[in-house]
Amino acid sequence: MKRHLNRRGKILVLSMSLIILISGIFVIKGLNQKEELHILESTDNYDLKIDYPNIENKKIKQKVDEYVKKQKDAFLNNVKEVEDIEQPKYDFNLSVNVNDYKDITHVYMLTFAYTGGAHYTRDDTSLYYDSKTKEFVDLKYFFKDEESFKKLSSIAYYYVLKLEDKKFDELWVKKGTDPTIDNYRHFNFKDEGLELLFPPYQVASWADGEIKITIPYEEINDLLKEEYRNKSKEEEVVSIIPEVRDLTKYQDKKLIAFTFDDGPSETNTNYLLDNLDKYDAKVTFFVLGSRVNSNKETIKRAYLEGNDIGSHTYNHRNLNLLSDVALMDEVKKTNDAIKGVIGKSPTLLRPPYGNLTDHGKELANMNIVLWNIDPLDWKYKDKNRVANEIIEHAHDGAIVLVHDIYKSSVEGALLAMEELQKQGYAFVTINEMAQLRGIKLDTTTSYFSMKKQ
Ligand code: NI
Repeated sequence: MKRHLNRRGKILVLSMSLIILISGIFVIKGLNQKEELHILESTDNYDLKIDYPNIENKKIKQKVDEYVKKQKDAFLNNVKEVEDIEQPKYDFNLSVNVNDYKDITHVYMLTFAYTGGAHYTRDDTSLYYDSKTKEFVDLKYFFKDEESFKKLSSIAYYYVLKLEDKKFDELWVKKGTDPTIDNYRHFNFKDEGLELLFPPYQVASWADGEIKITIPYEEINDLLKEEYRNKSKEEEVVSIIPEVRDLTKYQDKKLIAFTFDDGPSETNTNYLLDNLDKYDAKVTFFVLGSRVNSNKETIKRAYLEGNDIGSHTYNHRNLNLLSDVALMDEVKKTNDAIKGVIGKSPTLLRPPYGNLTDHGKELANMNIVLWNIDPLDWKYKDKNRVANEIIEHAHDGAIVLVHDIYKSSVEGALLAMEELQKQGYAFVTINEMAQLRGIKLDTTTSYFSMKKQ
C-alpha cells in the first residue's frame, strides 16, 4: 500500500539522504584462525548486523550467501515499506555458526529481525554437508531406516517432557517431535550425544524459548548407521550371545508360545529353566523392570539358553491411567534395566492387564504381545488345573499366559508341555513363532496368537 508522505515522512526522507551510515565489512581472525566476516549497517531507521565465517567450501558458501541475501533483502523490504518508523528502531541480526563432527559440517544460521509488533521474528536454518559424499544431508541420513527414525522421535518426545522447570503441553510436544524431517531440522552430533534444537513454537510457547535436549549415544547407537555410532568402552563389553536353534524342524509342527509374566523368581524361574530341555521348549519371559537387578543371573541364564526376554513394565501399573511421560518411564526404565543385564533392549512388551491404547502403543514403540489362553493360574494356584486349562484350549499358534512367580504355575506349565508334546506340539518363543509363521512384528498390532497365514 502506497502512502502519501506526511510532513514527518518528508523530514524522514530528507534525513535518509543524510544518513549516518556506518557500513562495512571487517575481516577478523578468530581464535581458530578462521576468517570471520562482519557486516554492520546503522541508519536512523534500523541497525543491521551480520556475522559469519568465511567458508571455504564453495557449495556451502553459496547456500550461506543465498540465505544471507534472502534474509537481508526481506528485512530491507520491510524497512522500505514503512516510511515512518516508530521507536524502537528496526533491527536485524544474523549469525552463522559452523561445527564439524566426523565428516559432517553443520552450518547453523540464525536470524532475529525486529520490524515492529510484539517481538522479534526468528528464523533458524541448518545445513548439513557430508564431505565424503559431497552432498547436503538431513537427520534421516544418519539413521538405519525409517523405523529407527521413528524410534528417535519417541525418545525425543520423552526427553523434552523430562526437562525440568517447564510445564509442557503433551499434544504440542508430540506434534513438534513427530517423525517428520521438518521437526528435526536442527541437530548436532556432539561428544556427549545427539543435540536437538527445537525453535520457539515448535514444542512450546514463544515464552519458553528454544528447547534443547541432548540424547546420549547409548540411547541411539542401535538406531544409527554403524559409522555414526559413538560407543563408550563399557558399552562394548556387555555382549552376550544367546543360543540360537535351527527352526526348520519345527516348520510343520503345531506351535505354542508359553509366556511367563511378573517374574523373574529365583527359585521358580530357575526350576522352569532346569526342565525346559525335556520338552525341547523355549519360552518368553515378560519380566518386571523392578525385579531385574535382583535377578540378574536368572535373566542372563534364561536369555543365554535361547529364551526371549520381554518387558512387563517397571512397576506393573495400568498404563492407560498414566501420563505420557509416566508411561514412557515405565517402558524405558525396564528396557534400560534389561539392556544392562543382557546387553540388548527388549523388543516385546506385555502391558499389565493387557491394557494399552493406540496412543500408548505409539509412545511405547514396541511389539505388543497379549495372549489367548489364560488358565487364571494366579487365582487357583493349582498345577493340575493350570495344566488342564492349557491342554483343553491348546491350538496351533496359541499364546499361553502364566506367571513364573508361582510354583504351581511353573509345574502346571511343565505338565501341559508333557502332554502337548505327545500331541505333536512344539514350544517356541514369541520371536521364533513369528519367524516360523513368516510374521514381521510391527508396533501397531497387538498379538494374541499367531495362526498360520
Ligand atoms: Ni502381570
